[in-house]
Amino acid sequence: MRVLKYTMVCLILAGGAARAFAGYTPDFDGGVDVKLAIQAAIESAASAGGLVPEVPGRAEPGQRVWVSIERSAAAALDRELFKSLPLAQNQRIAIYEVDPSELGALADGMHRALRKAPGFFAHDTLEAALEDLKAPPAQPARAYTVDQAQRVAQTLALVKEESIVSVIASLSSYKNRYYRGATGVDSSKWLQRLWGKYAEGRPDISVAPFKHASFPQESVILTMQGAAEPEKVIVIGGHLDSIAGGGDSPAPGADDNASGVAVTNEVIRALVEGGYRPAKTIKFIAFAAEEAGLRGSGEVAAAFKKAGVAVEGMLNLDMVNYKGSAKDIYFVSDNTSADQNAFLGKLIDTYLGYSWGSIKCGYGCSDHASWTKNGYPASLPFESMFNQCNPFIHKATDTLAQTGGRAEHALKFARLAAAYAVELAK
Ligand code: BES
Ligand code: ZN
Repeated sequence: MRVLKYTMVCLILAGGAARAFAGYTPDFDGGVDVKLAIQAAIESAASAGGLVPEVPGRAEPGQRVWVSIERSAAAALDRELFKSLPLAQNQRIAIYEVDPSELGALADGMHRALRKAPGFFAHDTLEAALEDLKAPPAQPARAYTVDQAQRVAQTLALVKEESIVSVIASLSSYKNRYYRGATGVDSSKWLQRLWGKYAEGRPDISVAPFKHASFPQESVILTMQGAAEPEKVIVIGGHLDSIAGGGDSPAPGADDNASGVAVTNEVIRALVEGGYRPAKTIKFIAFAAEEAGLRGSGEVAAAFKKAGVAVEGMLNLDMVNYKGSAKDIYFVSDNTSADQNAFLGKLIDTYLGYSWGSIKCGYGCSDHASWTKNGYPASLPFESMFNQCNPFIHKATDTLAQTGGRAEHALKFARLAAAYAVELAK
């Protein structure tokens, strides 16, 4: 089966392709880009050669996929698939089982007609898809304070561009970090070893893989146990996987998203070097399979919710090293917490002096959407305006060389994330 691949987002929108669907204003809060989820399903079905063997003992993993999609989107798509009765629906969202053989035509039609794909969430099970019919839990208002000037300054002094560059270089040296491929698995193991070193001599720090049922790449979690209120948790992270063209094609993913993982690592490194012990627990997470429909973060966030974990804030770092616009940092305003975004703006104004603005993705464009969906306050500080973002993402040309081997832009995000960690985990 032909594997379809879309390169979408910023370029396509900037090119005016959105006009192809004039008058259509989707409201996909919590949605996931359909094209890559579709691609994931197609690829699961195609089971292309050169990939790691499937997990033993599991019957045909990835052969069946259930999606939740906005009903307005399904109607707008006007595909046979969505004319059939959904398995379940509410006022806004419908659940379909998507047959991989139909997905190709659907994806192809959407690519030509719609370009800016509407969002949907892809799930391994019907049960998981049905969860999307429930209204997201209300987020209790919380007070944000900014009063840790000394500790923030100490930490910021330790945040360095060189170590961000070094991690981007290492991660982007894998042929790809595809969530179903051997090098995708290797890159996760490499990160587990790197993060494992921070746990040496620190009994409060532990590193563990988060294994996923339907694909071999593991998410990676480094936990810094809180000294005073360990049950309260702050999550900082970004996606580890990369993708370009057909699944196993070269995909260095230097900006998307070695940069976000490298920034996450830099916050850990600086906090450990400074001997910092947070009052609340901080979990640093590198998510598997974001490019396949937020599947890694979807499973992690759902597991946290199921276990009743009190996540007080989630900071998603996805694409932070390409300065495409006038301002330094843009906060994505949809599928995020307005209060937490305002807090991040205040951190910049207080400690960093960078310029910042606000943008919209228009759909659940990255892992923050998984946390928002599960009722946790999440934010995505982004590298540029949406329509001026890095034109090389999802291509073999998303390399560190594109930024001259530098991580000047990413450094700003590392400093922001470090301030966020200190001020929220106090
Ligand atoms: N890093 C991108 C998201 C992104 C790209 C945000 C450009 C803003 C501007 C992410 O890895 C990605 O590609 N997401 C997919 C959707 C996902 C749910 C499969 C996308 O946007 O196509
Ligand atoms: Zn990304």
